[in-house]
Amino acid sequence: MTDQFAKKGEAWSARFSEPVSDLVKRYTASVFFDNRMAQVDIQGSLAHAEMLAHQGIISAADYAEIQRGMAQIKGEIESGQFEWLLDLEDVHLNIEKRLTELVGDAGKRLHTGRSRNDQVATDIRLYMRGAVDDIIGLLRELRLALLDLAEQHADTILPGFTHMQVAQPITFGHHVLAYVEMFGRDAERMIDARKRINRLPLGAAALAGTTFPIDRLRVAKTLGFDDVCRNSLDAVSDRDFAIEFCAAAALVMTHISRMSEELVIWMSPRVGFIDIADRFCTGSSIMPQKKNPDVPELARGKTGRVNGHLIALLTLMKGQPLAYNKDNQEDKEPLFDTVDTLTDTLRIFADMARGISVKPEAMRAAALQGYATATDLADYLVKKGLPFRDAHEAVAHAVRTCVDKGCDLADLSLADLRAFSELIGEDVFAVLTLEGSVAARDHIGGTAPNQVRAAIAQLRKELN
Ligand code: ARG
Repeated sequence: MTDQFAKKGEAWSARFSEPVSDLVKRYTASVFFDNRMAQVDIQGSLAHAEMLAHQGIISAADYAEIQRGMAQIKGEIESGQFEWLLDLEDVHLNIEKRLTELVGDAGKRLHTGRSRNDQVATDIRLYMRGAVDDIIGLLRELRLALLDLAEQHADTILPGFTHMQVAQPITFGHHVLAYVEMFGRDAERMIDARKRINRLPLGAAALAGTTFPIDRLRVAKTLGFDDVCRNSLDAVSDRDFAIEFCAAAALVMTHISRMSEELVIWMSPRVGFIDIADRFCTGSSIMPQKKNPDVPELARGKTGRVNGHLIALLTLMKGQPLAYNKDNQEDKEPLFDTVDTLTDTLRIFADMARGISVKPEAMRAAALQGYATATDLADYLVKKGLPFRDAHEAVAHAVRTCVDKGCDLADLSLADLRAFSELIGEDVFAVLTLEGSVAARDHIGGTAPNQVRAAIAQLRKELN
């Protein structure tokens, strides 16, 4: 009996009259992707064993042996010597089998009062907690880099667009701060998701709990969980915390993708608002002149795969009856790829944000086209007493005249302008400048340079 487990390499062999077919083995195995949870699997096992010993369920000597074996396994995994076996299906059985090889019966006692069902749920949560903490840190890095960019360009003027048509002049700093806000909400969502990730499933065992006198709160404390999952069936089966994370990740990527789209447009020679440092771009194998913004384009593309992972997990969960079903093994690859994609993308963007050089002349030239100060002229007339709708109409006539003449509003003489409204005086020209236009939007959330600087100062305080 002692060696049956070791010989056949399968935890349930005695129940079966023939071995699993090779095809099925390959189909059901997860070891080659779930072994990325090896370190947290060991961490979880050690906390479980410590509790078993504390409760007198295993002896102190067994616990010491388990610790010794796990330390060696940890080293073998870190140095790449550990031999992962497909026959042993997943990361949990591979490590447990090796432990038993190393320490004998103590290794076989580790799984007392535990199932792979609560074990895997615990591992995923531990793994995700680390990943989410990294992502929160990276969002902060990205926001700090964007804050620096915004600060350098608190006064730089470019056209703001609606419908991709020139709308009103804005400051580039203000534009960049819009993304700092988006990534700030993304960080809030990650922090919030972390609360629900950080609860301990162990103790749920297969589904109903265990007959041993375990102390779940002790294990939770050892592993740094805020609480235990309060229902054993729920603990082993639901993956809503992973879905929630993927939803938050999809939003991060959506914001990255919007920013990417702008970077690509801005770097197009037709627009020429920015340049991106060469180390983030690539050339063409046929067109020698090309410098392509591959990183933002690829990030825009990768948003699709993260969205796909969210849908995969939602679909995975929707038909599952309580409690654990093998379907859940399929949660890992989408989840891991989401973590990898998000982590790499945020790291690159935080770096790339510092490799963006702005071309203020091109931005200014664009802001001078398209009658960006037309609203300012209408507001000016309103301040002189004209109802807004009438002011709107008067300025529409003025713009029409400019379109015919091929000039800007500021190029019209005072006499020309007065043809549209008697209320227009010499002071109108201050209003028609780009600087006057942005400076006038001087309230919380407005584009005025001093508002941008105030917002940056506030954000820096929050980030430090
Ligand atoms: N590899 C499995 C998973 O990822 C571990 C749990 C398997 N439990 C079971 N009873 N088959 O979900």
